[in-house]
Amino acid sequence: MGKSTLAIMSAVFGSIAVLASADGHISDKQIAAAIKARQSQMQLHAFNLGLLGAMAKQETPYDAAAASGAADNLAALASLSQAGYWLPGSDSDSVEGTRALPAIWASDSKIGEKGKDFVDAALAMQSAAGTDLGALQAAMGPVGKSCGGCHESYRKPKG
Ligand code: HEC
Repeated sequence: MGKSTLAIMSAVFGSIAVLASADGHISDKQIAAAIKARQSQMQLHAFNLGLLGAMAKQETPYDAAAASGAADNLAALASLSQAGYWLPGSDSDSVEGTRALPAIWASDSKIGEKGKDFVDAALAMQSAAGTDLGALQAAMGPVGKSCGGCHESYRKPKG
């Protein structure tokens, strides 16, 4: 992992603990807005990964420019600060309309590591996607795994 990845990661998830210990009052409205924002970001993850996945599976023809565009978007999404999205009290035990498990906010939470896996995989995809179909296909697995790895531990199953 390069220095820039580390810098990105601390920007993305580094402030969760800080937020959790800040003692300001957080309104229901703020909680609802934060949940909407993080779910919207996840929808953009899924959309861009979907474009890449369709090419990887050859459901749509490989197009280097389109693949690079989607991979650039994924890398850009991975670089956004998410600190404001993960407000304490916005977990699935505390409020309706979210599948974010309380474990995200636990003192032994590995959410930062899961986020780092995603950043690393997204940056690797960004380098690979425009090269050729084989490179894109090879980069798909780690990205998919990084999404699934976080969901497995920190997203409540549907139902
Ligand atoms: C570091 C953890 C983490 C990573 C990495 C991650 N997710 Fe998520 N994802 C979550 C959590 C937590 C939720 C539940 C959010 C909520 O309901 O408030 C979620 C929810 C979602 C949802 C449902 C959104 C909605 O509208 O309810 C989709 C779709 C999704 N993720 C796709 C992805 C894809 C695709 C990737 C990888 C490209 C990814 N996620 C990477 C943690 C992660």
